[in-house]
Amino acid sequence: MTQNLKIEAKFLLSASSLADAPQPSLSEVVFLGRSNVGKSSLLNALCDRKNLARISSEAGKTRMINYYEIKARRDQEQIALRFVDLPGFGYAKASKAERESWGENLSQFLRRRRSIRLFLRLIDSRHIDLPQDKVMSDFIRAATQPDQTSMAVYTKADKLNRRERDALLRLKPDALLLSSVSKEGLDKLWELIIEAIAGA
Ligand code: GTP
Ligand code: MG
Repeated sequence: MTQNLKIEAKFLLSASSLADAPQPSLSEVVFLGRSNVGKSSLLNALCDRKNLARISSEAGKTRMINYYEIKARRDQEQIALRFVDLPGFGYAKASKAERESWGENLSQFLRRRRSIRLFLRLIDSRHIDLPQDKVMSDFIRAATQPDQTSMAVYTKADKLNRRERDALLRLKPDALLLSSVSKEGLDKLWELIIEAIAGA
């Protein structure tokens, strides 16, 4: 992990509804993205843990909102924060009515929850122009308050070949490419997370 950064992570609670959220006593980083994009895997990789959040090749694994308590320590400095792992955005197998009520709930929750410092919008680096991701990006833009940050990150970079990687970087020169498998980009992401939290 990044220079001398020590991470301690533990599961806090699973909430089946946004109303069951814990007290907003710590800064929060929210992992958003469509089902199977690699939210839970990224959370695990950032904490250097294999089974903290459950992952699955089957879409829709994460059904609850899972909160994790994280301590990041570097030298004498310690930062406490929470990671929030959400179910897949616009999960396809849910009914339209379910998706709409979930979306409405989520947007109210995100607007009210001022403890959120950073929204990480996960996008599969092999499919960067999916309409669902555009919906997610518009949705987050509308919910983000001036004191919050939202950031797109590109997952599964290990699956890109040279040509695909070059094409993505030509289109998005500043794209943060991540892989939970090869660990690419994780140090950089930690820097950005700490910056977003400490700058609060
Ligand atoms: P939901 O909980 O359904 O919303 O999915 P999720 O976004 O949490 O995805 P999850 O982390 O469960 O990963 C989905 C699948 O993608 C699993 O089979 C993972 O092993 C795989 N995966 C996740 N990240 C990576 C990555 O960086 N590289 C590769 N090659 N596979 C990945
Ligand atoms: Mg998940």
